[in-house]
Amino acid sequence: MGHDQGTVLLGLDIGTSAVKTVLADMRQTVMASTTVPLDISRPRPGWSEQEPQDWIAATHEALEALKDIAPKEFAMVRAIGLSGQMHGAVLLGADDRLLRPAILWNDGRAEEECAEMLAAMPDLPMVAGVPPMPGLTAPKLLWLRKREPETFGAIRTVLCPKDFVRLHLTGARVTDMSDAAGTLWLDQARRRWSDAALAASGLAASQMPRLAEGTEISGEVRAELCAELGWAPGVIVAGGAGDAAAAAVGLGAIGEGDAFISLGTSCQVFASSAHYRPKPETLVHAFAHCVPDRWFQMAAMLNGASCLSWVASTLGRADIEALLGEVVTEASGPGEPLFLPYLAGERTPHNDTNARGVFFGLGQGTTAAGMTRAVLEGVAYSIREARDVLASAGTPLSAAGLTGGGTRSAFWLQMISDVTGLALWRPDGTELGPAFGAARLARLALTGEPVETVCTKPPVKDWFVPDARLADAYALGFARYRSLYTALKPEFRRAVAK
Ligand code: XUL
Repeated sequence: MGHDQGTVLLGLDIGTSAVKTVLADMRQTVMASTTVPLDISRPRPGWSEQEPQDWIAATHEALEALKDIAPKEFAMVRAIGLSGQMHGAVLLGADDRLLRPAILWNDGRAEEECAEMLAAMPDLPMVAGVPPMPGLTAPKLLWLRKREPETFGAIRTVLCPKDFVRLHLTGARVTDMSDAAGTLWLDQARRRWSDAALAASGLAASQMPRLAEGTEISGEVRAELCAELGWAPGVIVAGGAGDAAAAAVGLGAIGEGDAFISLGTSCQVFASSAHYRPKPETLVHAFAHCVPDRWFQMAAMLNGASCLSWVASTLGRADIEALLGEVVTEASGPGEPLFLPYLAGERTPHNDTNARGVFFGLGQGTTAAGMTRAVLEGVAYSIREARDVLASAGTPLSAAGLTGGGTRSAFWLQMISDVTGLALWRPDGTELGPAFGAARLARLALTGEPVETVCTKPPVKDWFVPDARLADAYALGFARYRSLYTALKPEFRRAVAK
């Protein structure tokens, strides 16, 4: 195909907690990677925003660092794949001027607007693959129409986070199917914008970016940027993917039923599918995949490994590894105490923007390790619930791959396997996640090879198999976890109404 050892691919993931890069060669060996952290601003309880310009600055910093680590390889970059946090609203006015900070996927402000969208378009959940929920993009725009009408009136283009970085790199206003899928404006089955869904949030298709498959070329890096970065002119940028679909590509989850758990800031249980299979009443998201003619079902939870960082920092324990070590040796369990992990509210299976984290059953003897164990177990129960709703949406699972920063702890993974009854496999290089998937999309855009040739399953590092002796104890803990949420649901709402 004319692309040889002299060709290098760049994967760029615009995450919530960091911008990550990887450089990979045509044999899919990762040669270097860099990470630059990002801050989140929380102007009010339940709100979550970032400055899109910070993504650009972090991207440049991460690229400069990559160039320092691997200058020879960096100079050979021929194609870029983008991945990014989904559902964020980046609002551009005339001349692509930023109108305000981006409202992110874990922002809960647009609750009322979800009911308004549904009333305006009752078949929206079947078209868009999921009912309106506050974290998704569309309700945020309705919120802006009411609360910031001047901003709303000035909007020329709405972009997803990674697509703002694409605009900076190439000048093109483009998104890919899997990121468009998370806006609530995509007609998932037809893979095109839904005029009706856009109208239900006061927008039109002219305010949307062009749609591309993740494997297509979306544009070329601007000549002056190529010169600045030391690249030959004509570096291409692939359509790319939302972070969930990019992680799927990295793990080779493109065939019917291929499943994985992503344990990053948020947490998803994801299963690829050959058809569009909406089951909106389960709150499982049925979305277009980033590769042509594929879709996926996904249980999307807002609280993953971020719960572990939260408990560690709240307990004043900067050394998370040491804290986890104490959990392994000291903490008892299961079920004592219990933790509900809804620090950021919850999407699947509750659609409850008011829910919050809860410790239940603390006693004089409760230790930091015991509380941390409860946090790990609470997230594991949320994954068990995700497994159950996916089964009720027609996708029963028995095994799944693993990705995301949270999968570094073998103790946590064994617990998740015990709690969910799933056999779990951890690949080599889990930490690369969506950025590696994005590099694969860059290759597909560059070479036009069949998707299956590139998106193979990585080698397995280890398996975690459920321990049947713990099944009863965890089943009991899970039942108590569920009834605790049911009991507290009205209290969460009352707390917000105050
Ligand atoms: C998926 C979701 C998260 C964000 C941030 O629905 O909300 O994956 O993309 O990672």
